[in-house]
This record gives sequence, structure tokens and C-alpha cells, in this order.
Amino acid sequence: MMKNLLISAVSALAIGTGAAFASGTAEVEDFAFSFESPFGRYDQQQLRRGFQVYREVCSACHGLKFVPIRSLSDKGGPEMDPEWVRGFAAELDPAIDKETGEERPRKETDMFPIRVGDGMGPDLSLMAKARAGFHGPYGTGLNQLVKGIGGPEYIHALLTGFTGEEKEEAGAIYYENHVFSTGWIAMPPPLSDELVEYEDGTPATVEQMSEDVSAFLMWTAEPKMMARKNMGFTAVLLLGLLTTLLYLSNKRIWAPHKGKH
Ligand code: HEC
Repeated sequence: MMKNLLISAVSALAIGTGAAFASGTAEVEDFAFSFESPFGRYDQQQLRRGFQVYREVCSACHGLKFVPIRSLSDKGGPEMDPEWVRGFAAELDPAIDKETGEERPRKETDMFPIRVGDGMGPDLSLMAKARAGFHGPYGTGLNQLVKGIGGPEYIHALLTGFTGEEKEEAGAIYYENHVFSTGWIAMPPPLSDELVEYEDGTPATVEQMSEDVSAFLMWTAEPKMMARKNMGFTAVLLLGLLTTLLYLSNKRIWAPHKGKH
């Protein structure tokens, strides 16, 4: 019985830790982002670069409707200067006032604008979680602990997965991309080398920009990841302490009755 249990546990682990997962026909490769692993942290400089890519490139077609603009200056995020964030908000598309129903300048307490209409893509606020992978049918969750959820890997693979082929179908143009589920995506390849100029001097290669924007989108999907990890760790420590105390007091309580008749 014990042996059988052990065998199934070990094989579940073995299956669950497979290196890559498939989405389209291409494999999405694992990637060591700074925020993965139980003690991982977002890299503030990377979040800033990723935000720049989103702002200058992706935001033309993708909204972030669940992301409050002011969270850009939150601790653990890109930590932009609050004054800058206020100015940035004011330059975005106007917001609709809830009470009057009229347009007014966007404020840092508003969400990022949405994008709808022809040629616009889906909202990216939660995309890094929506496209999570690495679970597999026999996933144990251990993968997730060590390698992260796989969503940023998917976005990174998608952005760098264009083959250069395109086709026209019913008046629309599709671009070949083996990472996308159908193999043909309506999004034109958004990145090209030197498309943005990073303030920290990092060379803006397609690879670099896609990594950075994927990290940024993980942050938009889970801005409190670091706090959650810290809390989880504290909880494990406290539970360990509690277990030890319970064990010791249990021994003590029963000590007078043990070994007697
Ligand atoms: C010119 C407009 C445009 C730009 C710029 C653009 N996208 Fe897209 N994106 C789209 C469209 C349209 C789709 C929907 C494609 C489809 O369903 O075939 C899409 C889909 C996506 C998806 C979802 C794929 C899926 O699995 O459903 C992701 C992720 C994505 N884009 C990320 C990005 C990122 C990151 C950037 C910036 C580097 C970006 N996009 C820039 C138009 C754009």
C-alpha cells in the first residue's frame, strides 16, 4: 500500500515537472523570471522598462481596464514617481465621469483606458494569468512554486513567435505564429529592434522588450505577489512553530500516564 502510494506520488511529480507546455503547435519554453521561485521578487527596473513598452507600443491596441493608474507608484511595482504618474494620467484618453456622464481629464485614481473597436486586441490586465501553463493534466502545483505560472512565458513566446508569413482571409490579414492556438493571429508583429529607447540604457532588442513587457503584464495581473509570498512564508513558519509546541505539550500532558498500568 505504502509502496503504491509512493510510486504514484513520484510519477505524478515526474509528469508534473515537464519542462515546456504546448499551446499552439510550438512549445512555450520556460524562462527564469526574477519573480518566480518561492522568494522571487519583481525587478523594479524591468517593470519600468516593460511599462515603457506597454505605454509606447501595446497601449495603442490593448487596454488595462483593471489596473489603477496610481498603482504605478506602489511599492513593489515599477515605483514611478507619484508626481509623474499624475501627469501621465492627465495625458491619457479622457475618462467618463460616473455622475455627470461627461468626459473629464483622467486622474491617477482612475483605471487605465480600455481599447475597443476594429483591430484592437483583448484587455491585457489579467492576460498573464489567463494564459497560465505548466500545470498539465497531472500538475502538482510544485511547478508553479518553482517556475511560476507560465503566463509571462506564453506572452514572451507569442511576441517572439512570428514567422513573417501573412495571409488574407475574408478581408482581414493574419500573421503566422505557431505559439497562438490557431497558428494565425490577427495581431501584426508589434515589436522590432530599437522600437523604444530605454531610459536605463538597456539595448532594446525584440527579445529584451518582450521579456520586459511580459514581466510588466505579470505585475498587472498580480501586483501583490511579493506580499502574498511573504505572507505564505510567515504562515509556514508559524505553523511549524505551532506544530512543535503542540507536539511537545502533548508529550508532556501524557507523560505521567505512559509506561504505567
Ligand atoms: C496594432 C494593434 C496591436 C498592437 C500594437 C499590439 N497588439 Fe496584441 N493583439 C492585437 C489583436 C488584434 C489581438 C487579437 C488577435 C487574435 O485574436 O487573432 C491581439 C492579441 C494579443 C494577445 C492575446 C493572445 C491570445 O493568446 O489570445 C496578447 C498576449 C497580446 N496581444 C499582447 C500584446 C503586447 C504585449 C503588445 C505590445 C508589445 C501588443 N499585443 C501589441 C493587436 C495589437
